[in-house]
Amino acid sequence: MNKLNIGLFGFGCVGSGLYEVLNKSNLLNATINKIVVKDPTKKRSLSPSAFSYNKHDILDDPEINLVVELIDDAEAAYDIVTTAMKNGKHVVSANKKLIAEHLEELIQLKEKYNVSFLYEAAVCGSIPVIRNLEEYYNNDSLDSIQGICNGTTNYILSRLDKEGKSFDEILKDAQEVGFAESDPTLDIDGFDSKFKLQILLLHAFGLITRPEEVLNLGIRNIKQSDIRFAQEKGYRIKLISFAKKIGEEVRAFVAPQFVRDDSFGYNVENEFNAVSIEGLFADRQLFTGKGAGSYPTASAVLSDVSALQFSYDYEYRKFKRNKLKWNDEYKIRVFVSTSEQESLQKIEFLTVEEEFISSHYSYRIGEIEIKQLNHQLYRENPELFISFFGEGILKDLQKQEEFVLAH
Ligand SMILES: NC(=O)c1ccc[n+]([C@@H]2O[C@H](COP(=O)([O-])OP(=O)(O)OC[C@H]3O[C@@H](n4cnc5c(N)ncnc54)[C@H](OP(=O)(O)O)[C@@H]3O)[C@@H](O)[C@H]2O)c1
Repeated sequence: MNKLNIGLFGFGCVGSGLYEVLNKSNLLNATINKIVVKDPTKKRSLSPSAFSYNKHDILDDPEINLVVELIDDAEAAYDIVTTAMKNGKHVVSANKKLIAEHLEELIQLKEKYNVSFLYEAAVCGSIPVIRNLEEYYNNDSLDSIQGICNGTTNYILSRLDKEGKSFDEILKDAQEVGFAESDPTLDIDGFDSKFKLQILLLHAFGLITRPEEVLNLGIRNIKQSDIRFAQEKGYRIKLISFAKKIGEEVRAFVAPQFVRDDSFGYNVENEFNAVSIEGLFADRQLFTGKGAGSYPTASAVLSDVSALQFSYDYEYRKFKRNKLKWNDEYKIRVFVSTSEQESLQKIEFLTVEEEFISSHYSYRIGEIEIKQLNHQLYRENPELFISFFGEGILKDLQKQEEFVLAH
């Protein structure tokens, strides 16, 4: 068993949680030797002598063989993580933005410098999904993966469903109780869910993606009229990270979806996360748990630290086999709503199956090419709310593949 001398970056929600859970656990062969934080004026729960404000106190210390990076700044984290690897230190991180934006480079670096790089806490907090995808599902029989990976948006959607309040009112409440950041963009526009989906795509299907390749539609423009529409038709709206393998290709996106009570996500409430993994032989398996919070997230970090005592590392076997390709040219059934009816014209529908037009709220349901739903469309028409239909997606994508194969 390896003795781990830990250099900890960050002593906020997750960093202080790790300090406590590590002390309470029986991981006798791991100690936190140094803690580096940013703000020297902040009051801390430990003596000031426990902290340093100089990253080199950890990065240049030859005694420290594991850097645990738990800071809230992805750019500074990039510098810390890459320098730690170059200095021969193993790294554990919870930073999905950093990982999703630099996936390929980080894998290359960790291989070049022969160190481990683990990040279970970066996807769905306490749910042990990455190591399961790496180890248990280490074969090609995975078919699809769906996740409610962002607690903030799930909390907002759960409350919108139960209360008659507007999105803005509930977002403000969520910020006050600490379930949403003061700048909620990464959460409500689906970026956080997308970063997590990118990590899932790597471990589920061996696929490396760039953030700009993966579509993320958020919930910023959802209206109570959309919620009422959903309720009248027996749906709930959930923000879902979705990926499906079709033949040798993978299709993936983050988008709000209308889900029925027998579909993935319907019963996942408030800040909870869930992941559904579907294999050809194992059928569907559901993991659910807390996706955020001090102890739940720290427990995933602790699990990585514990695994490192036995020299564990991800092997990226699916990535090295690398058979699958990314595909974003296909059709999808959508619901588009707006308070300004003329913006419905900005999306070209191949078929229209239902439409409602009024002076203050309009929607259209039909099939479109998914490629239209890029960020420019959103930027130019900021009042649009777009949702997919959960029940049909898996079957529709399968049907489109069968059609292509048959012709
Ligand atoms: N919170 C969750 O539930 C959760 C769940 C999953 C993943 N994560 C991820 O875990 C990471 C940490 O999140 P958090 O919620 O614990 O953040 P947080 O509570 O805001 O704490 C951030 C910590 O980072 C330190 N810091 C910021 N920039 C630094 C720098 N350049 N050098 C050294 N320290 C620096 C801060 O120092 P000061 O104390 O001096 O300000 C603070 O201690 C993030 O990547 C986040 O995405 C969080």
